[in-house]
Amino acid sequence: TPTGSLRIAVIGTNYLGANTAAGMAEFGFDVIGVEIDEHRLKLLNDGKAPLYEPGLDPLLKKHVDSGRLRFTKDYREIADWADVHFICVGTPQTEGSDAADLAQVNSVVDMLAPLLTRPTLVVGRSTVPVGTSKLVEQRFHREAPAGTGVEIAWQPEFLREAHGVDDTLHPDRLVFGVQTPEAEATLRQVFATPIAEGTPVVVCNLPTAELVKGGANAFLATKISFINALSEMADATGADVTQLADALGFDKRIGRGMLNAGPGYGGGCLPKDLRAFMARAGELGVEEVITLLREVDDINYRRRARIVDVTHELLGAAWVGRNVTVLGAAFKAGTDDVRDSPALDIAGRIQLHGATVTVYDPEAMENARRVRPTLRYAGSALEACEGAHLVLHLTEWPEFRELDPVTLKEVVDTPTILDARLLLDAGQWRAAGWTYRAPGKP
Ligand code: UGA
Repeated sequence: TPTGSLRIAVIGTNYLGANTAAGMAEFGFDVIGVEIDEHRLKLLNDGKAPLYEPGLDPLLKKHVDSGRLRFTKDYREIADWADVHFICVGTPQTEGSDAADLAQVNSVVDMLAPLLTRPTLVVGRSTVPVGTSKLVEQRFHREAPAGTGVEIAWQPEFLREAHGVDDTLHPDRLVFGVQTPEAEATLRQVFATPIAEGTPVVVCNLPTAELVKGGANAFLATKISFINALSEMADATGADVTQLADALGFDKRIGRGMLNAGPGYGGGCLPKDLRAFMARAGELGVEEVITLLREVDDINYRRRARIVDVTHELLGAAWVGRNVTVLGAAFKAGTDDVRDSPALDIAGRIQLHGATVTVYDPEAMENARRVRPTLRYAGSALEACEGAHLVLHLTEWPEFRELDPVTLKEVVDTPTILDARLLLDAGQWRAAGWTYRAPGKP
C-alpha cells in the first residue's frame, strides 16, 4: 500500500494501545506493540487482546497472522526501527489525589529516550493534563541521543470501550497537536485512510490538543449529570425523563447522545478524567472550570446514593435478612471493565448496610470477584434472582432486557424490580405481577 512505508510503534496495549496497534496494521502499516508483562505479551502475540472488546481479537489475529503486527517487551526493537512512536499508556487517578498519575508516561520516556539515536516523531495518545506534552518533550530533548531531532506531537483518541475497533478505524474527527508542517504531514500519512473517508482534521498546537480530550470527556460527563438532575425533576413532577431526553435530543444543537439517565457515569475514563481536569484547572487557578465540574461530579455520585435510598425504601426500610439481586457489574454494557462501576459500587453499599447481595454479569464476573470478593456471585441472571426480595437492574446488557418476568417471578421471594437503567418494558413487568420502579419515570 502507498502508506505502508511508515513503521509504527505503539507503546502500551490496554484498550487504547491494543486498538491503536490493530488499527494501524489495518491501515496498512507494519506495527510493533510494546508490552512489558509476559502474560499479556504472550496473549497478544497469539492474536488475543488481554481484555474483552468486541471485534478486537479477530483484527489482532488477522494482522499477527499476516506478519504486519507483533508485540515485544524490548524497547530496543522499536527504537531504531520505528518512524513514529505512539504513546498509549494509562494515566490513572493518583492515589489520594484528584490529579492524573503520569508514572507510566514517564516510564515510557525513561525507557525510550536513551535509545533514540535518529530523528523520530513521538505522538502522545494518552489522556494527560494540559502542559504534559511540553514536559515530555523537554525530557526527550534532554535524554535522547538524537536530542531535538525527537519531535513531539499530541493526537488524542476518543474511542469508547465496547466500540473501540470501530472508533479507531472510523473516528468522528482527528485532532493533530503539532509544532511543524513535517509532523502534520506524517500524521496525515498515518491517518490517510480515515481522512480519505472524509474524517475531519483539526490541526492545532499542543495545549489545544491536550485540552480537546479533557474537554470532550468533561462535556460528556456534564450531559449525563444534566439529564440525571432532570431525572429528579421528573420524579418530583410525574414526568418521564426518557421521553424528555428524546425530545431534547431532536434539537441538533443538543443531540440525544449521553442523555440516558441512570446510575451515573463510571469506568476508567470519565470519572478520573473529570477530576484530573479539575485538578489541573486548580493548579492553573481557573476557578470557573472547578466550580462547574465539581457539581457535575457530585451529582454523579449522588445518583448512586439515591439508588441505594430507593432500594431501602422498596425493601420496606429493612436491610438485614434481605436478599438483593444486582444485574450487572461492568460499568456499562459490552465490556468486562469494572473500574469505578456504579453497579459494583451500589452493590457494595447495599451489602455494607447488611443485605445479602448476589451479582450476575455476562462478562465481568472475573474482574468483579477480584475487586469485590465479598459479594455473592451467581452463574446466571435466573440463579442470581433466587429468593430475591428486590432485583436491581444496573448495567444495560441486552440480555437483561430479554429476561422473562413470568419465569423470574417463580424464583424470587418478592417480585419487585428497580430498573435504574430505565430500559426494561415497564408494562410487561407490571402485567406479570411485578412492582416496577424506575427513577425518572412515573
Ligand atoms: C468515554 C468517552 O465516551 C470516549 O469518547 C473516550 O475516548 C473515553 O471515555 C476515554 O476517555 O478513553 P467510555 O468510558 O468507554 O468512553 O464509556 P462511555 O460509553 O462514554 O460511558 C461512560 C459512562 O457513562 C458509563 O458508565 C455509561 O453507562 C454512562 N452513560 C453513558 C450514561 O449514564 N448515560 C449515557 O447516556 C451514556
